[in-house]
Formats: sequence, structure tokens, C-alpha cells
Amino acid sequence: MSTAPVLSPDVAGAAIPRHVAIIMDGNGRWAKKRLLPRVAGHKAGVEAVRNVTRAARALGIEALTLYAFSSENWRRPEEEIGDLMGLLRLFIRSDLAELVRENVRLRVIGDFRRFPADVVKLVEDAVGRTAANTGPILAIALNYGAQAELVRAAQTLAERVKEGQIDPGQITAQAIEAELETRDLPPLDLLIRTSGEHRLSNFLLWQAAYAELLFVDALWPDFDGAALADAVAAFAQRQRRFGGL
Ligand code: FPP
Repeated sequence: MSTAPVLSPDVAGAAIPRHVAIIMDGNGRWAKKRLLPRVAGHKAGVEAVRNVTRAARALGIEALTLYAFSSENWRRPEEEIGDLMGLLRLFIRSDLAELVRENVRLRVIGDFRRFPADVVKLVEDAVGRTAANTGPILAIALNYGAQAELVRAAQTLAERVKEGQIDPGQITAQAIEAELETRDLPPLDLLIRTSGEHRLSNFLLWQAAYAELLFVDALWPDFDGAALADAVAAFAQRQRRFGGL
């Protein structure tokens, strides 16, 4: 079954964001509304990941970054963390062949090496198997936190100053950006959060400096290819001035 969205005249030919990031929120509430366990919401969330990833490719989006597990998600009950790890395993096992075939480059941002050893290996293998691809990037944020990312960048640059490799004056915005995990991705154009919450929750704080922000009421499992096409159409209507007039 094709999940490619039908492009409305508004979207076709209009400004397509090069890099879209999504805070996938609302799985728990989706399940609760249906009197289902939270894991059912996460399962439905994986189906949304699949649909939206396909739709992003069909729309010509160069990079899609999905917030799958934040550095704060360790505060959740052990059972839920285990369920999320299980779904990640399942997703890689079931969808990697499609990503390879579709020329997608799978990336991970975040300190995912703190995950269970088998998941780390699975993720590393999957990233390796798509490394030679040349098409769109699917970046999954796993144990990601923007503040930790910036702390690491500051530490690396401070070390270089200490070693005499650079002067403090060479710590520029470009130098910081070169230390971020998104350094190979296009600039972030559009950041979407589902489920009606209006927070960035420690996601891509530096990268969001000039991104368009879009908060939608749909719960993540209900967000589909058509919703992504609507978000892209809303983006195309925005006037971006980057601080100018
Ligand atoms: C937020 O919903 C969602 C998450 C913390 C996890 C997102 C994970 C997935 C969509 C599945 C795994 C992803 C991949 C790539 C395999 P919530 O649980 O905070 O919802 P709530 O706010 O309604 O409780």
C-alpha cells in the first residue's frame, strides 16, 4: 500500500523544507483514549514513524530527524523503557531492508551507546549498512539531549584552546556547529511537535535558532503523510527573515 501523500497544488513546487525535525508526542494519551496500555500507543507510534518517513521521501525532504528517546526518558518506568527498546529492535529488523533499498542514510544522534549492548550493535550495523547510500537522511535521536550536546561541544573546543590548537576568539558559531551531531545535516528548517504541547524539551536547541516551529494538536500515532504535507504547506506560507527585514 502506498502511503505517499497526494501533493496539493499548495505544496507542489512550493518551498520544501530541507530538514524537518519532529518531537513525536502523545503516544501515551492515544493509548489512554482507547483504554489500551501505553505500549500500544508506542506501537502505533512506530507505524506513524514508518508512514511519515515514507511521506518525507515522497515530498523531497532531504533530512528528517525524529526524537525517539530523550536523555530524560530514563525517568520512565523500567518496563516502558524496555518496551521502547523492543520497538526499536523491531523497527530496525523490519524496516532496514526498505531503508537500504530506498537509498536512505540512517543516522543516530545522541548517546545511544548507553542502550543495551544488542541494541547498540543493531543500530551500528543498520547505520553501517546505509552509510554508502546517497539519498535522504533519516536521523533518529536516541538518548539525545541538546544541552548535553552543547556541553560536549564546549568541552571539545576548550580542550583545543588548552592544547594551544586554537585561540578563544576562534570559538565561533561555525566552530560550535562543527561539533554538533547534526553537522552533516542541512540547516533545520521546520520543527514540529505533536499533541498540543508547546515545548522544545531539550531537542535541537541550537539548531532551532531560525527554524520555523509548528505545534499541532494531533497525537503522534494520528500524524500521517497527509499531516506532514499540511505541515510543509504551512511552512511554505511562513515569511522567513533570519533577523533581517
Ligand atoms: C512520546 O509520547 C513518545 C515517546 C517518548 C517515544 C517515541 C517513540 C516512538 C514513536 C516509537 C519508537 C521509535 C522508533 C523510531 C522505532 P508519550 O509517551 O510521552 O505520550 P504522552 O505524553 O501522551 O504520555
